[in-house]
Amino acid sequence: MLKSKQPSKRIFSGIQPTGNLHIGNYLGAIKNWIKLQKEDNCIYSIVDLHAMTVPNNLLDIKNSTLEVAAAVIASGIDPKKSILFNQSNVPQHTELAWIFNCIARIGWLNRMTQFKEKAGKKKDNATVGLFSYPVLMAADILLYKATHVPVGEDQKQHLELARDIASSFNSTFDKTLNKDFFQLPEPFILGPAKRIMSLRDGRSKMSKSDISDASRINLMDDKDQIFLKIKRAKTDQYPIPENIDDLENRPEALNLINIYASFSNKSVNEILLKFSGKGFSQFKEDLSDLIINEIGPITKEMNNLMNNKDEIVRILIDGSNKAKEIASEVLYDVKKIIGINFKD
Ligand code: TYM
Repeated sequence: MLKSKQPSKRIFSGIQPTGNLHIGNYLGAIKNWIKLQKEDNCIYSIVDLHAMTVPNNLLDIKNSTLEVAAAVIASGIDPKKSILFNQSNVPQHTELAWIFNCIARIGWLNRMTQFKEKAGKKKDNATVGLFSYPVLMAADILLYKATHVPVGEDQKQHLELARDIASSFNSTFDKTLNKDFFQLPEPFILGPAKRIMSLRDGRSKMSKSDISDASRINLMDDKDQIFLKIKRAKTDQYPIPENIDDLENRPEALNLINIYASFSNKSVNEILLKFSGKGFSQFKEDLSDLIINEIGPITKEMNNLMNNKDEIVRILIDGSNKAKEIASEVLYDVKKIIGINFKD
């Protein structure tokens, strides 16, 4: 008898505890997590084992994990409604990842653009963990039989790999069941913030690892920093157009308008209607105010929470215990299906 059930809808997502969270993480992921927790069964993880794939991230991993947990809670994730935990507290993630390592093919991983970007020219020096990172990510999602995964666009390819692993598992091992064991998880890539770009270069993604701090707005930035970064954000000499098609070759302008739309919870067309024909100076002032009004209280709450780290640890342990209950049943079934579970 198998133990786990397939929920009709279960949300899973994760975020790495690596340095500064920025408004790309907030708009592309966390803000959607909060919307989803109102109705759905949600599990969110601070994925510390993923952060370990880059050895430098280990320098301050405990503090970074607590800080990212604080950011997620301060933004509105309620640990009473959603399960919030840190990945390394639930050992089933690594066990399932090993099983998936024996399913995934090197050719599939060789196609991953994020590995190529992160490993850069020194590919031989990258960790094996960085290469097999998307396999662990597939384990994160499938360990909970998640049906939907809210992420930014940069994670789309990893989601496709998780689907490939799930269908390969189903067709390889699952011949005795008349239904697929793993339902294929769907990516949730929502709204105008699916890919927030650098404030200095509209063709590259806003990223924690960009050496220029001016390229991003961090959740810990204060009012003056936000104002200055938006003021200095790259634009062009043309006025704001009426039509979105006219932004096609204007990546910096499009990026700022997407950010504006996301913070104001309005569509890009509504923003264009409001500002069309105008230059960027008033737009930028309004945008700074919007960001400061939304991020300011989050930063304040993050600082409050970081003054009580024991409480964050308690929340993560409690979440890990709840996550383990689900994870252990799914892993039990996986091993039973493969034939390596001798428990009964
Ligand atoms: P991470 O920690 O790099 O980013 C966390 C979330 O933020 C989104 N994001 C962005 N969205 C829009 N614009 C941007 N510039 C931007 N930068 C980051 C990411 O898409 C992500 O949703 N591999 C994942 C973490 C992970 C995970 C998982 C996610 C591990 N296991 C299972 C979902 C399900 C990552 O590195 O995210």
